Amino acid sequence: MKIEEVKSTAKTQRISAHTHIKGLGLDENGSAIQSAAGLVGQEMAREAAGIVVDMIKSKRMAGRAVLLAGPPGTGKTAIALAIAQELGNKVPFCPMVGSEVYSSEIKKTEVLMENFRRAIGLRIKETKEVYEGEVTELSPVETENPMGGYGKTVSHVVLGLKTSKGTKQLKLDPSIYESLQKEKVEAGDVIYIEANSGAVKRQGRSDNFATEFDLEAEEYVPLPKGDVHKKKEVIQDVTLHDLDVANAKPQGGQDIMSMMGQLMKPKKTEITDKLRKEINKVVNKYIDQGIAELVPGVLFIDEVHMLDIETFTYLHRALESAIAPIVIFATNRGRCEIRGTEDIISPHGIPLDLLDRLLIIRTLPYSRQEIEQIVKLRAVTEGLQIDDEALSSLGELGTKTTLRYVVQLLTPAALAAKVNERTSIKKEDIEEVNALFLDAKSSAKILSQNQDKFMK
Ligand SMILES: Nc1ncnc2c1ncn2[C@@H]1O[C@H](COP(=O)(O)OP(=O)(O)OP(=O)(O)O)[C@@H](O)[C@H]1O
Ligand SMILES: [Mg+2]
Repeated sequence: MKIEEVKSTAKTQRISAHTHIKGLGLDENGSAIQSAAGLVGQEMAREAAGIVVDMIKSKRMAGRAVLLAGPPGTGKTAIALAIAQELGNKVPFCPMVGSEVYSSEIKKTEVLMENFRRAIGLRIKETKEVYEGEVTELSPVETENPMGGYGKTVSHVVLGLKTSKGTKQLKLDPSIYESLQKEKVEAGDVIYIEANSGAVKRQGRSDNFATEFDLEAEEYVPLPKGDVHKKKEVIQDVTLHDLDVANAKPQGGQDIMSMMGQLMKPKKTEITDKLRKEINKVVNKYIDQGIAELVPGVLFIDEVHMLDIETFTYLHRALESAIAPIVIFATNRGRCEIRGTEDIISPHGIPLDLLDRLLIIRTLPYSRQEIEQIVKLRAVTEGLQIDDEALSSLGELGTKTTLRYVVQLLTPAALAAKVNERTSIKKEDIEEVNALFLDAKSSAKILSQNQDKFMK
């Protein structure tokens, strides 16, 4: 099994509707602060989510499932993302939407399994022989190209490494020079090089240089202690899916196949059940030997009513396996038909046996005051100015329509204000755009009143 070259496959998503959310906003006793970390109100649900976070962190939640249920726009997705923020980046969090399973190329269960494994982390501790220190010198030594012709090639690299104990000069292979360049290593950085594989890891800038550039987003690390050449405990966080991908891909060094591969961009190689079983076996061995530790993360399935009976059954079984993440579902449906069945009506469109396993967290509609607070937060995140009168008219509008509608009105209202040569949104702007756009409820009303005018 390859571990060295495992690249992270974590999904990087930017969910702009929720960028103001930074966490659950709980105090040290786990009670919700009315407005904190970008979340407003919804105290009960936030406190319940806080307990879930504690259970996940103390690893008591694997194989369990939580359902966030409530009307549209009551913050279910927002709270799930806040849970992700609270867990930090060491615990995997894999978001997906129920409808993602319907792909014409990949089996439904395959999509689920992949996401399942994205949500299970493995922390691997290894003791490795390394050269570590602050770079004092980095100079490639060139020679005439032995193949003749013009130009020169790098024959070796001279690298100086400094620790608190001393300095050492290394003469390195040109291939390591390439990895040094890839990591953008320069003098003053703290790096380590694995003795066996030659892999280079840049840890950050030495804090001797901390005052150099204050503006740069740079991580400063202390000068390493001990000898330059030593044994070091290296910790790597990967997910099971990372391991699947790394071991399924025909990787390779400089051979022809990999050159061809780069040219032809081969299709995604298949990750078979057999491969997964093999990886599980190795992982279990590592865990038994104490080299690796399992970190069950979170699989978040939004709009869970989009799953069908087949995927529900599969999911239910997968939750029972020894290696399983915590699954968080969210839905805004009440009683509805389970997809893929003829006429089975069930609460939230989830089969009763699965429902029976769930801890359910309820989200409630917001009060006018809370809506105003949330709109204000959004205005700040979007860099818009809004005066108090306009804010209160949005609050009132929000109680009649929905939170999401009024949040969405902000941007058009800002444009209207700009057209009227103002920098701050006023009540007129709100009224103007509200007359131009419809919220879902008014639209539905018009549809039912004018049924005869629409095509059936
Ligand atoms: N308590 C809250 N504090 C701050 N912002 C919130 C809060 N609740 C919701 N929001 C924001 O309001 C918008 C709508 O909320 P969200 O998308 O979480 O609703 P939802 O319950 O997932 O709705 P749906 O059922 O339609 O998926 C989002 O932009 C969200 O960030
Ligand atoms: Mg949602």
